Amino acid sequence: FEVSWDASAADKGGWSSFMAKEISEEPEAVAKTILGRVHDGAVTLTDLDPIAERLQQVDRVIVIACGTAAYAGILGKYAIEQWARVPVEVELAHEFRYRDPVLDSRTLVVSISQSGETMDTLMAVKYAREQGAQVLSICNTQGATIPRESDAVIYTHAGPEVAVASTKAFIAQGVALYLLGLHLATLKGSLTAEQIAEQVAELEGLAPKLQQTIDDASGVAELAKWMADTRSVLFLGRHVGYPIALEGALKLKELAYIHAEGFAAGELKHGPIALIEPGQIVFVIVPSPRDPRSLHPKVVSNIQEIRARGARVIAIAEEGDAAVLPFADEVLRIPLATPLFEPLLAVAPLHMFGMELAAAKGLDVDQPRNLAKSVTVE
Ligand code: AGP
Repeated sequence: FEVSWDASAADKGGWSSFMAKEISEEPEAVAKTILGRVHDGAVTLTDLDPIAERLQQVDRVIVIACGTAAYAGILGKYAIEQWARVPVEVELAHEFRYRDPVLDSRTLVVSISQSGETMDTLMAVKYAREQGAQVLSICNTQGATIPRESDAVIYTHAGPEVAVASTKAFIAQGVALYLLGLHLATLKGSLTAEQIAEQVAELEGLAPKLQQTIDDASGVAELAKWMADTRSVLFLGRHVGYPIALEGALKLKELAYIHAEGFAAGELKHGPIALIEPGQIVFVIVPSPRDPRSLHPKVVSNIQEIRARGARVIAIAEEGDAAVLPFADEVLRIPLATPLFEPLLAVAPLHMFGMELAAAKGLDVDQPRNLAKSVTVE
């Protein structure tokens, strides 16, 4: 029999789409995912008790996931490597399984899956365990198949995500990976208690900043209407802005059926700048000018280069960053946060933009063509 599910308006809580509702729930998804896992400036992940012994010996992490979940994995890579000083590789699950990866008992494989039913990720999890690695899953669906095939699981508490295009689950995945990074840093003593407390404070301050970002992004709908007939959009990001560029591009592909591509901003001169012609729309996730890595001037320089070739630039930049103003056609602002946390804010306007552009084109925001919420076939 056909199990049909009627997504009545009542289920959308009065929102125009499940995606709109789920974007509005992004701050709550953050708050619920950290609830009970941070207190007194420390991280306590009892979720990892089943692998606590072996976690001490972990000398390598491999993240396996697909699509949006893989981009959350890249964000987690930067944080875990910076905080826990453990090497992290991020692999597309469907590639991982067929490349004869070198795994052993000191490898922690972390699978990320909103549904917990993605066949590519499930098969990769089974393979990793057969090869002797321990597997930790990050999942948003209680009791799903992938957590049941794993040694331990960190559930995100984003609530049911109905829209095919993932939004709140992506941010909750990032938060779960940050919790994992701080837990590993605590185990390995790679951060002091004060340093960990600083990051915990950032985690606790994230939900209200995300709410402010969503409230302030009202201009996105107007921007989307103006761009409804665009046929190509590029996204540039550097360091932790890079996975956000990939995520922004994926949202446009799956929601508005527009060719969109995310690039590491540093890659521009190595080829992609040839794509820039007058009128080319480029979103740029701008690093914080306060970041000691000094990536901000490099990205502002990228903006100047593409603007000089006629690109239309929409910059996502922190409040008070005036350097972008002379070179950007539009600036979407995010509140101040530390460099690793700003991407979790910058992604919200990109989620909203993908949704608004699809709506402006009269497309089905919640059920885009050709796509399933969970890809349960290989
Ligand atoms: C997300 O917007 C996409 N619908 C898709 O890339 C999704 O993230 C991917 O299929 C993985 O799904 P999962 O998180 O349920 O495993």
